[in-house]
Amino acid sequence: MTADLLNSPPLLLLASAAASAVLALADSARAQTTAPDTLQHWAARRGLLIGVAVAPRPLRDDDAYRQLLAREFNIVTTENALKWQSIQPRPGEFTWDDADVIVAFATEHGMKFRSHCAVWHHALPDWVAALAADPPRMRQAMRDHIDAIGARYGGGMTYWDVVNEAMEDDGTLRDTPWLRGLGPDYIAEAFVAAHAAAPAVKLVYNDYGTEYPGPKSDAVYALVRDLLGRGVPVHAVGFQMHLLRGLGDAGPIKANFQRFAELGVQVHVTELDVAIQNLEGTPARKLERQADVYRRVMEICTRVEGVTVVQTWGLSDNHSWISWFTGKPDAALLFDETYQPKPAYHAVLDVLAHDGQGPRAGDSSR
Ligand code: XIL
Repeated sequence: MTADLLNSPPLLLLASAAASAVLALADSARAQTTAPDTLQHWAARRGLLIGVAVAPRPLRDDDAYRQLLAREFNIVTTENALKWQSIQPRPGEFTWDDADVIVAFATEHGMKFRSHCAVWHHALPDWVAALAADPPRMRQAMRDHIDAIGARYGGGMTYWDVVNEAMEDDGTLRDTPWLRGLGPDYIAEAFVAAHAAAPAVKLVYNDYGTEYPGPKSDAVYALVRDLLGRGVPVHAVGFQMHLLRGLGDAGPIKANFQRFAELGVQVHVTELDVAIQNLEGTPARKLERQADVYRRVMEICTRVEGVTVVQTWGLSDNHSWISWFTGKPDAALLFDETYQPKPAYHAVLDVLAHDGQGPRAGDSSR
């Protein structure tokens, strides 16, 4: 009951004094520390977590970054700080300094955090990839790595992207050192190991290009259904949503999210950004179009009940990976380089504060 109430928009709750009391109780800790017109304020009232991926450097030396982050958001992801290359570049030699900075910030500010990511084919040191020729040692290395992360952060993290990007666009398993060394069941093995290492943490399968139904999304769906059927602990599916070319029809995305939710997993938008380089118009018009894309993504998220987390891939345009990735200047996030809110920010805030048309408000059209 409480969860349902927390998933309801504020206007509906005002209709019932009893409901308001429950909400006030459940939300009291946050309400005391949350500024009223912020993303996290409105997101929390819907039972949604809203956040960004963060880097340790600005957390160490940029006050404005820290303040904006703590004001607007209630969850962070470790952008690069917990990738294999970052924490275990050589066998058995772990470095946690960067991840510790992020985790300490989150803890200090009452924010949740997501660890990203244990088993991936990028940011993978050569010594690990080479173990594909020696499956027992590779299996042990995977378990040791997962154990180490679980031992250090298992008590604090809420979500853990355990396996990242295991699927090809055509729906076959990606040819990675993990697949070559351990075979297709490396995915199940990773989740089982992560659950043993951090039993309280919700475990996530994360991938890109899966928001629309199609061969890749269908394959992730089949994978997750199979894992659940075998009792493998998977609790959420992450949809990265790096939108490099805007957004088409939202209907199929809603339906796709819905079918994942019906499997019994949470749906997370994990790495949202909306590139402007391929949008039409003047610079100002591009920002408006970008805001429209963010608005529509957010509407999907507020209207599909299974969506519990929405995170952008970076706080502000000067902390975005898109320019690096595409080789072209861009401005894909909610805040500009001077941390001023962009039209996209206002669009997201508006949806969070006012969108009451979705199933969370009793709409049966989903
Ligand atoms: C990106 C980071 O943002 C960059 O800083 C880094 O150079 C490369 O990786 N999918 C993922 C993320 O799951 O880990 C990637 O992050 C972006 C695509």
